[in-house]
Amino acid sequence: MKRGLLLVVLGLALLLGIRHMDSRGWIPMDKARLPYLQQVSGDRAIIAWRTALRFTGKPRIEWSLVGDSTEASEVLNVAFGETVPSQYGLDNLDHHVVLSGLPHRAEIRYQASNGPLPVGSGQFRTAPADHHEGPLRIWALGDSGTGGPVQYEVRDSMVEFLAETPLDLMVHVGDMAYSRGRDGEFTARFFRPYRDLLSSIACWPAPGNHEMKSSTSMDEAGPYFEAYLLPTEGQCGGVASGTEAYYSFNYGPVHFISLDSSGDAIDPTGPMMNWLEMDLSQTDSTWIIAFFHHPPYSLGSHSSNNFKDSEGRLVKMREVAVPILEAGGVDLVLAGHSHIYERSGLIQGVHGYGDTEDHAVPATDVLRSDGKIIRWEGDTYWTEDGGGTVYAVVGHGGGHVKKGGDHPVMVVSQDVFGSALITIESDRLMMENVRSDGEVTDRIIIDRSAELPGK
Ligand SMILES: [Fe+2]
Repeated sequence: MKRGLLLVVLGLALLLGIRHMDSRGWIPMDKARLPYLQQVSGDRAIIAWRTALRFTGKPRIEWSLVGDSTEASEVLNVAFGETVPSQYGLDNLDHHVVLSGLPHRAEIRYQASNGPLPVGSGQFRTAPADHHEGPLRIWALGDSGTGGPVQYEVRDSMVEFLAETPLDLMVHVGDMAYSRGRDGEFTARFFRPYRDLLSSIACWPAPGNHEMKSSTSMDEAGPYFEAYLLPTEGQCGGVASGTEAYYSFNYGPVHFISLDSSGDAIDPTGPMMNWLEMDLSQTDSTWIIAFFHHPPYSLGSHSSNNFKDSEGRLVKMREVAVPILEAGGVDLVLAGHSHIYERSGLIQGVHGYGDTEDHAVPATDVLRSDGKIIRWEGDTYWTEDGGGTVYAVVGHGGGHVKKGGDHPVMVVSQDVFGSALITIESDRLMMENVRSDGEVTDRIIIDRSAELPGK
């Protein structure tokens, strides 16, 4: 009898889905997206989350400023977005709330609930002012969404490397939900592995080709566009793009640009390139970082010298986007797709197939044709504003790494797993490659101090 009773109880528990529940209430954990941040920029932030449809409770947010006696309600404006049934993750509801009027660099603690049931809590730091001198820390990650152990190793290596040092934001250069960017793949291979981080920093994405197997840029439909709430109207700084497929935003003294290399044709006279030129012409940020999926320079698991590779998207990004990025004074370009870590020196004007000599990395002072001087010594490049761009491929976040050769402009090429940490402090930008075992295997510094050393 006892055994029979136990089986009945176990059967009922399975039927009700209890094995997926946790202490946060009746949320099936294999479907939930715990509170995650979006659009942390300027004086605003968005908190978003997903619950099961049977949660009919009204979404609620409680918040407080940590270490400040000011009543949060006097400082913040709060506007609930429409709660919408997920079109792709059936039986789920997506909620979000927009906080604005936030003070710079404040710690905000929050608790999201539906009706009386708590969903999740978190704490984040609001964005710094434009003139903030830093340091700012940016986690750059790509091609991570396998759900396999390497994805978790790369995550843990960065968390351990940072120790108690706080991150400011995360940039994902695409392929975050293999193999087709489906709703369940986003939940299991993006939201679940990074849920602790996503509750305290915003992830700013660029769409990968795998996401675009289930989403379309033209009508901004699919799980990618449902997962993210991205600025289309210039609400985070920059020129309004009118689409979530590509956009820009400011974070303190840094202007970020996310391009869509995976969606529609990469057209030199199309709306994305027109917007890019306009956006770059209007920014006055100290630093500019652009990111997208298909790398202009790479010989990893993909080749930027092969027009047939990935429908020619790598070649097109080099021929079409790179001249605009260079003219606009972009300092750092991050891409993925090619499963490898590669990094150039400060270069300019390499728009061909990388087999010419115009890309040579200067070993001594070089007076460029544009009159800018670059000085290079060890891992540090000294340059004037707009004097060259560093290109990095960070597609080594989880998918099998592969080296196809040494690309002439990529002075570093490592077929290792890992991700990159970018630290910006005043006139100095440093990027470090943190291998999945925690070792730093590459470091580059762009120093724009007014005086070139030794001059
Ligand atoms: Fe890719």
